[in-house]
Amino acid sequence: MNEKRSVDIIQDALFSSSVFKEGGERTLNQSFVPENLEYRSDDIRRISQNFRPLFLLKSGGTEGFSTNLALTGPAGVGKTVTARYTVEHIQNMAGRHHIKLYTDYKNCWTTRTKTSILRSFLRDQFGVASRGFSDEESTDILIRRLNSEQAYLLLILDEISVLPQKDIRGFIHLPEEFGAAHRISLIMISRPTEWKVTLSSMVSQRIADVIQFNPYNYEETRKILEYRAQLAFKTSSISEDIIEMVADICDQTKNLRHGIEIFYRAGRAADQHRMDELTPELIRHAKNDVFPEMRADILEELKTHELFAALSIARRLHHKGITATTIEHSFKNYRIICEEWNVRPNGEAAFRNYLSTLEAIGILGKVTKGVKGRKGVRARLTIHDVPAAVLIERIEVFLDKRFQRV
Ligand SMILES: Nc1ncnc2c1ncn2[C@@H]1O[C@H](COP(=O)(O)OP(=O)(O)O)[C@@H](O)[C@H]1O
Ligand SMILES: [Mg+2]
Repeated sequence: MNEKRSVDIIQDALFSSSVFKEGGERTLNQSFVPENLEYRSDDIRRISQNFRPLFLLKSGGTEGFSTNLALTGPAGVGKTVTARYTVEHIQNMAGRHHIKLYTDYKNCWTTRTKTSILRSFLRDQFGVASRGFSDEESTDILIRRLNSEQAYLLLILDEISVLPQKDIRGFIHLPEEFGAAHRISLIMISRPTEWKVTLSSMVSQRIADVIQFNPYNYEETRKILEYRAQLAFKTSSISEDIIEMVADICDQTKNLRHGIEIFYRAGRAADQHRMDELTPELIRHAKNDVFPEMRADILEELKTHELFAALSIARRLHHKGITATTIEHSFKNYRIICEEWNVRPNGEAAFRNYLSTLEAIGILGKVTKGVKGRKGVRARLTIHDVPAAVLIERIEVFLDKRFQRV
């Protein structure tokens, strides 16, 4: 009896009705590329135009072709999806024109060095296990292979500023190491701040085209979300009102990813609660879970000691059950963190200034007055909408990057 019931539970979980269409949940994955990309036709055209020479090559590809493009723009405006969409279609087109074109997409948050990017490409596309090979050896294998097949490679490097500078240079200079027969092209994607601050001066001479992506306006956001809802959900599970509600949220952050993620989470929650449509309440819940990505931009702007200060609070708040901490406690943590990074800590007055900056920027929650203790009124520190674990991870990644570059 018991066993039967357990089986029923599984059966139910697997086959009971869902707000998603069959296969609809998958369309909300980050890597999903929809069939239509509205409002990006200018960008798609402009990216494509840079590859015209590839299709005009004579003598069956003994000539070289290489170009480097940069796409920049804030988070959630379709840079990644537009790059993937365009590259996918260029590859299909190349196939029809008997041009051998390899393509690959790498997010540098996941694959963090030139070596690992090259290796994983060689492994996935050519089945070459290049584990013990040096960078030069890997590159050599790649170029030989492309030459012998008279093939080309078009590589999308997303979030490229995460790579160490020497690796970025390495990629940019890759074609030229091998004489005239250039066969590797890059589409580099980056946020505008990083682009301006580090990348553009470093690589600009080698970039054929910089394409700036701007946020969608309200109407565009709503239309896109309507389309994405159609792909993901059963018609009866989502209403115009809900789509508008999500469009409003996205319009505030100007980040379409928030909308897609809210759809995903709300849909999952509806299924979990055996509801047959998305409700405003589900959307509100999902909204709170979606990590606001603007924070990632903000971290870039912070000085090292401010990052240490933010980390000192986040680490404290990461402990179970702790929702707020004190300046005294955080200051202690801050000094420990300085030690970890081999940096001399500044005094408490400076530390308080860092906290003020963090508060002004909105990373720190309002520094509210807490309990009166022996030392007078104590400030209590909290962090805004970002989960402490996420903040810790982000800051540590930034610090790693920053220190590598010093
Ligand atoms: N024009 C569009 N049509 C359909 N979906 C889009 C469009 N633009 C962006 N999206 C979706 O919005 C989300 C955010 O886009 P993404 O390309 O990841 O932004 P970025 O790379 O600029 O941060 C993705 O899920 C993407 O599929
Ligand atoms: Mg992206």
